[in-house]
Amino acid sequence: MTGADGDGDDGDADDVPVLLVRGDREFLVQPGEEMGTDLGVLEVPADVDPGDTIETHLGEAFTVRRLRGPDLFHHFERTGAPMVPRDVGLVIGETGVAQGDRVLDAGTGTGVLAASMARAGASVVTYERDPEFADVARENMRLGGVTDRVDVRTGDLTEEVTDLEPSSFDVLTLDTGDAADVVGHAPDLLVEGGFVAVYSPFIESTRDVVEAAREADLADVRTRETIQREMQFDDRGSRPSTAPVGHTGYLTVARNV
Ligand SMILES: C[S@@+](CC[C@H](N)C(=O)[O-])C[C@H]1O[C@@H](n2cnc3c(N)ncnc32)[C@H](O)[C@@H]1O
Repeated sequence: MTGADGDGDDGDADDVPVLLVRGDREFLVQPGEEMGTDLGVLEVPADVDPGDTIETHLGEAFTVRRLRGPDLFHHFERTGAPMVPRDVGLVIGETGVAQGDRVLDAGTGTGVLAASMARAGASVVTYERDPEFADVARENMRLGGVTDRVDVRTGDLTEEVTDLEPSSFDVLTLDTGDAADVVGHAPDLLVEGGFVAVYSPFIESTRDVVEAAREADLADVRTRETIQREMQFDDRGSRPSTAPVGHTGYLTVARNV
């Protein structure tokens, strides 16, 4: 990892793209580059600032916006199913990931969780077993402005885990079907009081994770389903949306003591 010092610096700001927004149109563009849109061509100055307005060659105005956390989910190139913003919030909230923390993460997938934790100030080592996914994730880290705080390693964490330095992480985050095979190593990997958070869309692998966490004598092992209902406000009244209940997964959290 280069300069993973958790100092809150966004890396080389010149390399960080900006969003160009007009109504529900959003384009992620590198300052200094050109972007073709259905409303004409946008030439983005290298010294563009958030809040600026840029017009296409047809005179259509776009506002410049700095990329923020939830934008990663919408604008990163997708490989492994990215974690939705609400579940990123749960992981960060339940583990307390903060500036200066060292996080071990797998699998990287699209890299939304890894980048979000880095944007919260952590240094993240993340493993992705698919080499093409890992390459896409490295580019996504550049888009997210966190290349200096995320080390994307190509490899299978179940194979690499025994080579990692003992007690070298504050938090372990897992979003893989084989997470149970890694959870047993948490007491070796984590500092005293460090957290494990495992996200799984399915109950079967969640049960395996809970059993592995108990077997490893991790404390405070708790699993919660993550569900959210959107509210509807219209002329007739206000109520939860009648669309299907929004299950995304199960989050298991445990602590090393
Ligand atoms: C659901 S995605 C992770 C999404 C990620 N949390 C995000 O927010 O974008 C799961 C990824 O884990 C990878 N994977 C599965 N098992 C792995 C392992 N043992 N080691 C490393 N990567 C693994 C898969 O290739 C896949 O890309």
